[in-house]
Amino acid sequence: MLITKIQGTKDILPEECLLWQRLERVSRDVFSVYNYREIRTPVIEDASLFNRCLGELSEVVQKQMFLINNKTDIYALRPEGTAAVARSYIENNLEKTAGFSKFYYIGPMFRLERPQKGRLRQFHHIGAEVIGSAEPYLDVEIVSLAERLLSACAITDYTVNINSLGCADDKRRLIGILEKGLEDKTGRLCDDCKSRFGRNILRVLDCKNEICRGIVSQLHIRDNYLCAECKLHFSMVREGLDFLKVEYEVSPCLVRGLDYYTRTVFEIKHSSLGAQDAIAAGGRYDTLIEELGGPALPAMGFAFGVERLLLAAGRNKQSSVMERNLVYLISLGKDAKIAGLRLLNSLRNENIACDTDYENRSLKSGMRRANDLGAKIVLIIGDNELKNNTVSFKNMVSGEQKEVAQGNIASELKKCCGHIIADN
Ligand code: HAM
Repeated sequence: MLITKIQGTKDILPEECLLWQRLERVSRDVFSVYNYREIRTPVIEDASLFNRCLGELSEVVQKQMFLINNKTDIYALRPEGTAAVARSYIENNLEKTAGFSKFYYIGPMFRLERPQKGRLRQFHHIGAEVIGSAEPYLDVEIVSLAERLLSACAITDYTVNINSLGCADDKRRLIGILEKGLEDKTGRLCDDCKSRFGRNILRVLDCKNEICRGIVSQLHIRDNYLCAECKLHFSMVREGLDFLKVEYEVSPCLVRGLDYYTRTVFEIKHSSLGAQDAIAAGGRYDTLIEELGGPALPAMGFAFGVERLLLAAGRNKQSSVMERNLVYLISLGKDAKIAGLRLLNSLRNENIACDTDYENRSLKSGMRRANDLGAKIVLIIGDNELKNNTVSFKNMVSGEQKEVAQGNIASELKKCCGHIIADN
């Protein structure tokens, strides 16, 4: 029987990989403009890291972790990146060596979810984490950085929702308000919210069920659970965002599903994505580093779901092959093939992206192959060219064809294509 991929995973084939590479390149450029540095942590961690960071009762820990039993230990494929970056910061003593730090990461995450459009079991994050500051203007930087990534990907039609959960005391106060307000209404809540009532009551706030939303709206939750300091923090965040002309909506019901959040939380949604419309989410986690046994350092970050980002960009299916800067060599006959080998090697020494035929194609079939590959230039060596020490040089964009001396090929390529250097 044919072995197929696991449900909720995806092969990213070479053509689509070009889009991923471009997205990753653009993201790295944006991160470096903001002075974020890359961090790479293992995809496998001790499961207890996520239990402690995300919360034993969070949906991710309860239902979505890929666990691996290894004798006495339980490992987990990472469901997200924040916990691992926090662990790494503490374990590598970065407080002493690096202090205030800005990180970014790009990589796969794993959640055992029921797959659907935009919801996978292996998906990818492009994320950022900043450790060591409680400054409200850092929150502003993080949200506007997320926005800049969107504009670098030419994505429009998104909305930014923000809220403040307040400090740990405020969160407890909010939980108290919810417990009291919902106490005599639990019978009317949806089944999910009934079970959330006992273990993760904050999630009742962002339930999508109409009845639950109606009940929650009658609780009139605004910022009445925030202490003066957290109110000031949130107003400075909003002021900074206004100043940078970042458009956002304050959503008092935005709570997020992971336990570590405090103060500012935000989510970016895209109108084209249907049920799974969050393309990015993030927020502060001011107590997490200390709770994990590290120094008392506030922190904040976000993560984009790459698959959803690409869906929103609407470019998944667009052929990118035609934009390649490829030179394709067709050599006809045994002697031409050896001359071609030498020519290819010399072009590659000059960092010129080139390829040839290894299937003994005819001229016609070779031209078709060059076309399929989206080659910009086709070079042909046959008996005549061998005799004259030249190469036929065909520009596939303009259609122009000429004979060029073999020794001048590299300079001719650079002259007519400028940036033909390998950059696919
Ligand atoms: P999250 O909201 O769980 O947050 O995930 C961030 C983004 O990852 C989501 O907005 C969504 O675009 C994408 N995503 C999540 N689950 C899936 C899935 N099953 N399939 C496809 N895409 C998915 C976090 O993970 C936090 N660590 C974000 C953060 C960083 N907060 C602070 N720092």
